[in-house]
Amino acid sequence: MRYTVQLSILACLAFVIACSPSKGDRTGHEFMPDMTHTIGYEANLYDYYYYNRWGTEAEYKKFASPRTTVPGTVARGEISFANAQDGTARMEAMSAFSGVGDGSIAMTPNGHVPYYYVDTEEDRAKATREITTNPFPITDASLAHGKDLYVIYCGICHGVKGDGLGYLVREEDPAKGIVAGVYPAAPANFMLDTFVNSNVGRFYHGIMYGRNVMGSYADKLSYKERWDVIHYIRSLQAQAKKLEYSSKANTFNKEAAPWALVEASMQKMDATAMVKDSASMHPAEAAPQHTNQH
Ligand code: HEC
Repeated sequence: MRYTVQLSILACLAFVIACSPSKGDRTGHEFMPDMTHTIGYEANLYDYYYYNRWGTEAEYKKFASPRTTVPGTVARGEISFANAQDGTARMEAMSAFSGVGDGSIAMTPNGHVPYYYVDTEEDRAKATREITTNPFPITDASLAHGKDLYVIYCGICHGVKGDGLGYLVREEDPAKGIVAGVYPAAPANFMLDTFVNSNVGRFYHGIMYGRNVMGSYADKLSYKERWDVIHYIRSLQAQAKKLEYSSKANTFNKEAAPWALVEASMQKMDATAMVKDSASMHPAEAAPQHTNQH
């Protein structure tokens, strides 16, 4: 009887201590730490071994450290129309980029695609040197959308014709009742040779970071939209040079393929693939499994 009372007091004390609250520097006692802290293998969190009771420390380290990706994995935003293997893959990449395809996670709605250049004049020059192609073919839709976006976002400064004489920088003309624009700096004139002959990276970098008084448009335009705007600027430049930059032909530069050409080459590729497929269906041939991995 005596012991029963003492034991129950002890049990009560043990219970209270086990659940003592945290205070100040004290973390408090945990009655069931496994419930509070995950004992799963937490990626990149080595400290959690303390709570993990399943295996040895070496095993924990092995499972929690980064592992290589499954072969063929494409990082988000890294897929490119230009890298697609065949006609069908190109079409899939296209629809994924525009956010309408089944695999639309290839390009996030906010257009976040990795851009590895930083906002310095050094990297502006580097991007200008290294980015030489528009990853999208020239289509009627991209030119039309590019025009809308250009007029909304760029034309007010760079001018609807791309000559740098936008509404915000217009000159005063009292005779016509035109008040001077209020913008303090001259926007770039895309009709100048320095812009006509520049690699496309200069435009892309300009959109990503702006320059001096021009702000960034990276948050206003998705990845695809930035390239649409650039298609449209190129078409304005080509027009001024009396050259063609359209979905039918590109006599202006080598940085983008007109859709007509892409379509024709896709049909040719598909025809070749069909011939190959029917050849490998020959029973005597027992062709090895075709693989797309390089
Ligand atoms: C509010 C006015 C304004 C708007 C809007 C604007 N820009 Fe600019 N932009 C400028 C000014 C000013 C410069 C010149 C900056 C400098 O060189 O100091 C410039 C320069 C540029 C350059 C040249 C950068 C270089 O390498 O010299 C590009 C390319 C450019 N803008 C593209 C665009 C595009 C595309 C848009 C629309 C998405 C746009 N800008 C919208 C004012 C504007």
